[in-house]
Amino acid sequence: MSMDTRAAPYSTGPETATGPLTLLGIETSCDETAASVVRQAADGTVEVLSSVVHSQIDDHAAYGGVVPEIAARSHVETIDGIVRRALTDAGCDWTALDGVAATAGPGLVGGVMVGLSYAKGVAMGRGLPLVAVNHLEGHAVSARLGRPVAWPFLLLLVSGGHCQLLEVRGIGDMTRLGTTLDDAAGEAFDKIAKAMGLGYPGGPALERLAATGTDEGAGRFDLPRSLLGRRDCDFSFSGLKTAAARLSQGLETEADKADLARAVQNAIARQLAERSVRALDLFREHHPDLDRPVFVVAGGVAANATVRACLTEAAGARGFDLVAPPMAYCTDNAAMIALAGAERLRLGLTSDLAVAARPRWPLDEARALSNPAHALGRKGAKS
Ligand code: KG4
Ligand code: ZN
Repeated sequence: MSMDTRAAPYSTGPETATGPLTLLGIETSCDETAASVVRQAADGTVEVLSSVVHSQIDDHAAYGGVVPEIAARSHVETIDGIVRRALTDAGCDWTALDGVAATAGPGLVGGVMVGLSYAKGVAMGRGLPLVAVNHLEGHAVSARLGRPVAWPFLLLLVSGGHCQLLEVRGIGDMTRLGTTLDDAAGEAFDKIAKAMGLGYPGGPALERLAATGTDEGAGRFDLPRSLLGRRDCDFSFSGLKTAAARLSQGLETEADKADLARAVQNAIARQLAERSVRALDLFREHHPDLDRPVFVVAGGVAANATVRACLTEAAGARGFDLVAPPMAYCTDNAAMIALAGAERLRLGLTSDLAVAARPRWPLDEARALSNPAHALGRKGAKS
């Protein structure tokens, strides 16, 4: 008899852990091979004992984006060394671990399979519980790697593959309030940077160039403000992408380019803030008892200072505190996977060794599947 491990990757064990938990986390869903050891005390206090991230940027740079086959092969070659380094850096051996967590999706499935299979091997060989983690849930808890953040909170998840607003009430208890209708914010940064001849990944390159431009110079460029005034929480970056690519054609000097980079960065940051406002209000309506609610921004784009500044302002104006993870945990890392694994293990939510890697795995499955615009095969379901 075959088991549908896709629909229900977790089993609810009878035991919930009450003591400290030390987890090995593994992340291989895109172009970073990462491993980390995280200890979560019984009171929720988190200690990152090690976090090793091997970036494959050099392997993919010539292609201007991530090549799935190259990524999967590189994960195979490096995963063992990265895991061993994470254990060494943490000053612990296999016996110190209470469990092993790995990203099981969403992502490039060849890479996901590498990390998940490695984790299954560890779980089997060392007799440890396995926790298959949704990469997005990892980002959702990443702010807790820097400071305590109580449930519930509003989350803006902005990375290369995702751009969504979620009401997060706890592990496995999230409702998506909005998502992108086309590109993710990080994807917009990457594609516009590519059109402007900047390096990959585009976000950091564009931020560096924008820092040399001026706001007056940026003001010359007329970029669209998508979905402005719409009473929902969705995003759209394709109009901005097309406009920026067209404008970049006629530029002559480096100063002009820097001004356009600044205009693009301002436009993305502004849209993220403008479109978040409705979600802040909805969250307030759902949780009127909270004195000072928290708005968390996570994912690679959360590393952008202008994005943080715009969101801080929007949050402050609505009586929210903006919390972002420490810089190192904005972009993909395994500490967030280890922490999500610890949270799940504490609740007795472990995975069967037959659990499958999933290229698509929305956090809020019911919501994603009910909206045909976000059906499987389109970007929305991934997000
Ligand atoms: O979270 P992440 O490492 O991977 C995904 O899960 O997608 O995010 C990577 C994305 C890329 O699109 C990258 O360009 C963007 O985050 N990014 C930035 C910055 N640092 C990374 N975008 C804008 N400014 C940055 N400083
Ligand atoms: Zn990510």
